[in-house]
Parts: sequence; structure tokens; C-alpha cells
Amino acid sequence: MKVVIFGATGQTGRLLIERAGANGHVVAAFVRDPTRVNIPDRSVRVVEGDVLDSAAVDRAVAGQEGVLVALGTATRGSPQVLPQGIRHILDAMEKHGMRRIIVLSAAGALHEPAGSIVGSLGLMMARAFLPGVYREHRAMLEELRTRNLDWIAVRPVILTNRAWTGRYRVVTDGIPRGGYRISRADVADFMIRQLTSDEFLRKMPAIAN
Ligand SMILES: NC(=O)c1ccc[n+]([C@@H]2O[C@H](COP(=O)([O-])OP(=O)(O)OC[C@H]3O[C@@H](n4cnc5c(N)ncnc54)[C@H](OP(=O)(O)O)[C@@H]3O)[C@@H](O)[C@H]2O)c1
Repeated sequence: MKVVIFGATGQTGRLLIERAGANGHVVAAFVRDPTRVNIPDRSVRVVEGDVLDSAAVDRAVAGQEGVLVALGTATRGSPQVLPQGIRHILDAMEKHGMRRIIVLSAAGALHEPAGSIVGSLGLMMARAFLPGVYREHRAMLEELRTRNLDWIAVRPVILTNRAWTGRYRVVTDGIPRGGYRISRADVADFMIRQLTSDEFLRKMPAIAN
């Protein structure tokens, strides 16, 4: 499948590039600054742009068959990256007749229960310390829900840089009980699998090791 990755210079984005390539997908990496990418795989096409620029997004999406999104949230003073960015991506997908999009969000964005007192307290604290981050994620998920596309939004718990395990728990309601961490490598693994699976179509699965 021809896929474009938004957030390709990020910690999860880089793993998505690797994993997508290893699974035989043809990858385009959407990046703000091409000097920040060091992609050994020469088959990866680098597309320069900012997700807040709808024309750049449109150019990147044209001709693709799938979209992977691992964008970070806004820094202080900048506009909201996730809700605006996702709107540009979804508009471009509709325009070009594309259907499949896998989006990285965050556990807690839906104000969902964690299934344990410790987990719920952790989420409450995270939301209290990072209100803007959760607001952006929630707005992005609300935007996705309004679109008649084949979207899957992945809600990981705390991300780590540990190694891939391929062993993780996924639930569509709430958060896996007692699951507090997940490696970015496992998240990337799960996201790439969703390109070709309908199991979680139009769902927002939460994932934890
Ligand atoms: N940390 C956690 O424990 C945790 C838990 C659950 C969910 N999450 C969520 O997971 C997501 C990914 O996390 P991560 O650690 O992989 O992120 P990251 O390393 O911070 O990467 C973010 C990516 O987004 C790109 N980006 C930001 N603004 C952009 C814009 N306007 N146009 C184009 N690209 C833009 C960045 O590009 P540049 O390289 O140009 O800056 C970078 O490639 C985030 O949304 C985060 O909130 C995190």
C-alpha cells in the first residue's frame, strides 16, 4: 500500500517508517524540516510541509492509499496542531477519494475510566498537568467521528522507548486493566497492522503492554 506518514520525524513516526517499509508498504514521510530526517531506506520519499498548511497536506495525500498520523501537539503560543491538522488531512482524503487513516491519539482523551484506581488517578493527573494536550486530542477524535471514512484512532497509555515485544492488550472500551505503559515500537506495530485490518474500523482502541 502507498502510505503517507504525518509526524514522520517524531519518536513514533520514525518507527512507523521502519515498520511500514518492513511490511512492504511504499512510504512517503511528511516532514517540516527535511534536514531532521535521516532515513536509511532510500525508497522513502520525503515530502516537505507543515500540517497547518492545507495545500501542502493536499499535495502529500494525493496519490496515496493510506494515511498514518503520529503528530505532536502544539507548543506554547502556536495554533492547535492536532484538530487543525486532522481537518486538513481528512479534507484532502475526501477530495482524493481515499478512505484509510490510522491516527495516534492518547488514552484519557475521551475522559474514559482506566479500570483501576491507580490508572484513573494517573489519567486525572496527566489531564490536570497537560490540559492543552488532552484538549487537542479530544478535538481531533471528535473531528474524526464526523467523517465517513475508514478511520482507526489508537489510544496508547504512557509511551516508552523500550523494544518491540508484539505482546500488548487492546480494548475498545476504557483502558486495559493495569496497563500503564506501552513501547512506541509496539504502538507502531499495531498501527501498521490496522492498515490492512477491519477489526477496529471506526473505533478508538486503547493499547497497553
Ligand atoms: N508521551 C506519552 O507518554 C504519550 C502517551 C500517549 C499519547 N501520546 C501522544 O502520541 C503522539 C506522538 O508522540 P511522540 O512522542 O511520537 O511525538 P514526537 O516525538 O513529539 O513527534 C511529534 C511529531 O509531530 C510533528 N509535528 C508537530 N507539529 C507539526 C506541524 N505543524 N506540521 C508537521 N509536523 C508536525 C513533529 O515534527 P518536527 O520534528 O518538525 O517537530 C514530529 O515529527 C503525541 O500526539 C502525544 O501527545 C504521548
